[in-house]
Amino acid sequence: MTSFSVHQKAEQVLVQTYPRPDIVFDHGIGSTLYDETGKAYLDFGAGIAVNALGHSDSGWVDTVTGQAGKLVHISNLFHTRSQIELAEKLVGSCFADRLFFVNSGSEANETAIKFARKWASQTYGPNKTNLAACTHSFHGRTCGALSLTAKEKYRAPFEPLVPGVSFLEYNNIASIEQNIGDNTCAVFVEPVQGEGGVYPADPAFLQALREACDRHNALLVVDEVQCGLGRTGSLWAHEQYDIVPDMMTIAKPLAGGLPIGAALASEEVASLIVPGDHGNTFAGGPLTCAAGLYTFDRISQPGFLSEVAHKGKLLLEGLKKFNSPAIVETRGKGLLIGVELSFPVKSVLESALENGLIVLSAGENVLRICPPLTITEEEISSGLAILENTLKTVAAQESI
Ligand SMILES: Cc1ncc(COP(=O)(O)O)c(C=O)c1O
Repeated sequence: MTSFSVHQKAEQVLVQTYPRPDIVFDHGIGSTLYDETGKAYLDFGAGIAVNALGHSDSGWVDTVTGQAGKLVHISNLFHTRSQIELAEKLVGSCFADRLFFVNSGSEANETAIKFARKWASQTYGPNKTNLAACTHSFHGRTCGALSLTAKEKYRAPFEPLVPGVSFLEYNNIASIEQNIGDNTCAVFVEPVQGEGGVYPADPAFLQALREACDRHNALLVVDEVQCGLGRTGSLWAHEQYDIVPDMMTIAKPLAGGLPIGAALASEEVASLIVPGDHGNTFAGGPLTCAAGLYTFDRISQPGFLSEVAHKGKLLLEGLKKFNSPAIVETRGKGLLIGVELSFPVKSVLESALENGLIVLSAGENVLRICPPLTITEEEISSGLAILENTLKTVAAQESI
């Protein structure tokens, strides 16, 4: 099959949920991807904030191939060492006492919804079922997680969704009390919003949210699926906000590219979940957990996180120096950065690809930059140069 027939066939055999460029990727090394023609692309997207260690990291490959030759799947009916070791490291790294493994961010949020509902009904009775999330939020595409996702276009075709969800305005303290009450069982928030446009939370907002949850006996759930595990320069993004959540959901980078996720919870919540309440066939398997242990250990090494913070600063400063009238705002934390343009970013993404740079979008008008956490300073400089030239050309074409 030629590259051309791959994308032709894709149109016939795949449900058409993703408009894709006519490129067929073949392999990746570090922060560079190669298509089937051998063309190189600098990766400023990391598979949507997943490939934290870049592509084909040798230690990761050794871990995964070694584990694949030993044991890949056994189900949650039995113990494996890597699952328990990874769980111990994760709960030891934050406020949580226990966790439940899943395979994706959406599943992590589904799990958190169920845990919150059970905690609330057991502790306060049957009426405390409401949930709250924020404007611009993205918590996933499965029906529960979609109910907490703000974007109308994603929700409308699938309604009715889970009832009793209200959306408070992100970073607006005044809207908290209007949307949380004594029947709220949990509030979901991304400390740095990703898909919704790359908006970091104001510390005062997250702190006010914590206080409101305490006042109304609601759980505060931080969704760190995209911003967690080192991406913002601290292990967990909420550490930078001086708050202690009740639950946290994580996924994307945890196994360095293999599907994994987890819902972490305090003992008060977790102790109410008993056999039969929840389950998952694949989650926490020995292969993904071995990859997770390797990835977690690398990211938690001394110096790794301060490097991420340093490189994030370089990238943000570099972007802020772009002298382009097309840019409305540049914002972000660590290596999760958004550049809001005055026009839709689609043409910029396409031209950047032609110029050998992968950048993502976050909504219509925002470029999202989230490279592997292992990206080098030289690669940051090359990517910035490509992006600046691309923006110049596209802005001229758009007559800006
Ligand atoms: C903050 C956040 N939560 C949840 C999800 C859903 O994760 P998944 O696509 O793995 O189901 C995403 C995906 O982008 C996300 O960014």
